[in-house]
Amino acid sequence: TANALTFTLHPTDTPTAEAERAAILAQGGFGTAFTDHMVTIDWREGKGWHDAQVRKRAPFQLDPAAAVLHYAQEIFEGLKAYRGADGSITLFRPDQNAKRFNASATRMAMPTLPEHVFVEAIEALVRVDRDWVPGGDGSLYLRPFMFAAEPFLGVRPAHHFIFSVIASPVGNYFKSGPKPVKVWVSREYTRAAKGGTGAAKCGGNYAASLVAQAQAYENGCEQVIFLDAAEHRWIEELGGMNIFFVRKDGSLFTTPLGTILPGITRASLIELARDKGIQVEERRYAFDEWQADVARGEVTEAFACGTAAVVAAIGEVQFDGGSFTIGNGETGPVTQALRQELTALQRNQLPDTRGWVH
Ligand code: COI
Repeated sequence: TANALTFTLHPTDTPTAEAERAAILAQGGFGTAFTDHMVTIDWREGKGWHDAQVRKRAPFQLDPAAAVLHYAQEIFEGLKAYRGADGSITLFRPDQNAKRFNASATRMAMPTLPEHVFVEAIEALVRVDRDWVPGGDGSLYLRPFMFAAEPFLGVRPAHHFIFSVIASPVGNYFKSGPKPVKVWVSREYTRAAKGGTGAAKCGGNYAASLVAQAQAYENGCEQVIFLDAAEHRWIEELGGMNIFFVRKDGSLFTTPLGTILPGITRASLIELARDKGIQVEERRYAFDEWQADVARGEVTEAFACGTAAVVAAIGEVQFDGGSFTIGNGETGPVTQALRQELTALQRNQLPDTRGWVH
């Protein structure tokens, strides 16, 4: 059974040479370089989880009829491994990724994976590829995912799934680095409706965001903000991250869960801020209200947050019909303080009073 899964290690016999790896780690950027190994675990109807392996990173052999290629039965997660000043390697709240992975699996009619197996899979990969965890500001981005591998064109949950974890050494998600990002508000496309898959981390949500994201790029912006599907009025989230707003009194608010991705960074920031005595509200917020609040100086900062993006100030907002600047367009003090505290916690540089560091 999955509870007794043991990982078989087949180390690659062609590991990346040390000098080449050092050059890759020095590159920074996001999601272009990959480590030497991957984890795979199979699931079959009637058999459950089996054949857990840590092996050389290699292409999958997929039948052209594999259900994922047709009906997109696929989910994923994202988390990072950090290297401390003493060389130790830590993960940040991987149990939360395991829980969300299973929530996504349930929504997408896929098998769940015991949380401890999810975490062990990540540990096993980080252990074998530990030399790929960058020091300094970098981190090793871990990408657990699962897809329907069964060759079958009927529309029903597949009978064969593959769970896998790959890893990618990363620096900044945005090309602009830590500078504030420009965002495009899409009033044409929406991301998720009530009852849909908005809260699941499934590839299809990201596929659906790309045409709006392309419009963002065309308008000189790095990310797109989606409004709700029913009224095209309420701010939901960005293409790949959640959003927070800061009032001039220093209090925070963010958009409510439901149709948005329940970010672990989002949840951690809410808890962190509240522990510091900062008021945090989860409330619906209309795009028009935002514009008005910024104009009258009531809302002074806004930021995007996520595992990949960490905490990124939003400097400018563009939409079909205009644009506005938040504050002076620079990273504001509340955004800056939260980013600093979160990254220090993630990197094990502060006492871990909440049991978040693994
Ligand atoms: C993450 O933040 O980990 C994500 O999965 C979002 C994506 C933009 C990389």
